[in-house]
Amino acid sequence: MTVNQSKISVFAPVSIGNVSVGFDNLGLAVAPVDGTLLGDIVSAELAINGQKDQLINQGAYQNILPTNKEDNLVWYCLLEFNQALKQIGQVPQVLQLTLEKNIPICSGLGSSACSVVAGLTALNEFYNKPFSDQQLLTMMGTLEGKMSGSIHYDNVAPCYLGGMQLMIDDGQNVCHSIPLFDDCYWVIGFPNIEISTKMAREILPKQYARADLIAYGSHLAGFIAACYAKNKQQAFALMKDFVAEPYRKGLLDNFETTQQKLLKLGVLAQGISGSGPTIFAVTDNLLQAEKIKQLFDQFYCLNENSFSHICKADQQGARVL
Ligand code: HSE
Repeated sequence: MTVNQSKISVFAPVSIGNVSVGFDNLGLAVAPVDGTLLGDIVSAELAINGQKDQLINQGAYQNILPTNKEDNLVWYCLLEFNQALKQIGQVPQVLQLTLEKNIPICSGLGSSACSVVAGLTALNEFYNKPFSDQQLLTMMGTLEGKMSGSIHYDNVAPCYLGGMQLMIDDGQNVCHSIPLFDDCYWVIGFPNIEISTKMAREILPKQYARADLIAYGSHLAGFIAACYAKNKQQAFALMKDFVAEPYRKGLLDNFETTQQKLLKLGVLAQGISGSGPTIFAVTDNLLQAEKIKQLFDQFYCLNENSFSHICKADQQGARVL
């Protein structure tokens, strides 16, 4: 077996799950236009003098990680990956992993996906890619499911592959890349409160009315068709959430006030990022993007450690640094 003897570091970007119109089925990787690397970094290298695998935590949010390494998502990645290696007859090496945790958990930015995607991609690169994209994505979805209570790919898929990804379930693939409008800015605002995806899923109805089902299907299909037709106005006019936002908005202080101000500003679309509390708004005008950021800072991102960023789609996804 060939392994990469040098240290491999992989960055995985934040993502907007659902993108309002595609609950559990649509996700978009984003990157701040100012060049900030908004996401987690995982490094893998052979453990020096090591008899046992090791995991070191670093980064701005290392203090929120479990103290026990066996409870860390990157450790789960190692266990899952090693098991898969054994299944193809390869012998796992003793490794030192480092997680640079730069994204707050329960933020609606796909924080757990950032760790899972960076972790599994770093391992796959370290072992010179024994697994295909689809195999890795399946592992990523499984680990994401352990965190949130059910498997969904709307964060891990864009985080890994970049761009906007539509989940498909044809028995062979996990997702399909959807063309997006290059000139759009996606402004995100994180108010520094925690909302667990598991809890935010539990408050959703178990069943939906037929009218909601039809609205969801027609809006998602219409949005995807408008993306292919390059009809920006139509695409964003259809970006509405019938599945989660009506039930989750009550969890978010000042959401409706901020939403009204965004509508007055004339944004193309806006909504909750993933299960919240981060929200987003879309515009194709940089001056308006700056106004949206100011609005978020003034009315939504009110805590000391809250943040907002003007982003564009991150077309690269996870990458070796
Ligand atoms: N699509 C999932 C949800 C995860 O909204 O519950 C989003 O991050």
